[in-house]
Amino acid sequence: MSDLDGNTEEIEVENSDIIAIRDLMKVYKGGVDVVALDNINLNIRRGEFLAIVGPSGSGKSTLLNMIGLLDTPTSGQITLKGTDVTKISPSERARLRNKELGFVFQYHHLIPEFTALENVMIPMLIAAENKKVARDRARDLLNDVGLGDRLDNRPNQLSGGQNQRVAVARALVNRPSVVIGDELTGNLDTKSSNRVYELLRELNRKTNQTFILVTHDMVMAEKTDRILRIVDGKMVSELRREGDKFVRSGKGESADE
Ligand SMILES: Nc1ncnc2c1ncn2[C@@H]1O[C@H](COP(=O)(O)OP(=O)(O)O)[C@@H](O)[C@H]1O
Ligand SMILES: [Mg+2]
Repeated sequence: MSDLDGNTEEIEVENSDIIAIRDLMKVYKGGVDVVALDNINLNIRRGEFLAIVGPSGSGKSTLLNMIGLLDTPTSGQITLKGTDVTKISPSERARLRNKELGFVFQYHHLIPEFTALENVMIPMLIAAENKKVARDRARDLLNDVGLGDRLDNRPNQLSGGQNQRVAVARALVNRPSVVIGDELTGNLDTKSSNRVYELLRELNRKTNQTFILVTHDMVMAEKTDRILRIVDGKMVSELRREGDKFVRSGKGESADE
């Protein structure tokens, strides 16, 4: 407001947008430059449950890595909760990454010597949380993912689907505002994949955290509310759930399909 001391900035993002991406480019330099992301523009609302689909090599992981602050763009802007993360220091990025983001990858990356409970506790202990608080929270989350009776099992004593559910619990333990998954059911059979997706949906409804899931599997993508298709680093189409079907939306650009 004008009666403040002129220090208010114009905020482009709508209040409900947790992420706003503008003119994002990523070029991998090499013998031949690879344009992995070509002018991506995208807004993601708080609490959204969305999928990014596209063929292998289309730039899905590159985009997730930018959103997840694991890599930096060549140009463009990414705003996370009102902060332009392309302009902050590496230590601030690391801090935001630990505080605001949870990751689940195709392979669970659990520590084999640790039990399910210990694996889920680790990010909280890294964040210097009290051990009892961490243990209680990890136990609650493992209950939420249906593994309340497997707390003391190590990864080699659990199935692929169960380990992936432990990885989901671990991603959520620090209450990130954004959870990103890169082909997180890629190694699972259909039944386990469905179970993991249903679980993510439940958690999304319960906590209003934002879920961004990359998959090349349309059956999985159709369990979300919005499907963005990326081809050759470009966003080519957007589908939105209306009831139990999807309708084309976006800026009305025609995709060549
Ligand atoms: N570190 C890298 N160095 C050079 N090229 C890369 C690198 N990572 C990805 N690429 C290239 O960028 C493009 C997009 O890759 P990626 O984001 O992994 O696609 P997707 O996840 O959709 O399969 C591909 O052409 C890939 O070969
Ligand atoms: Mg990928």
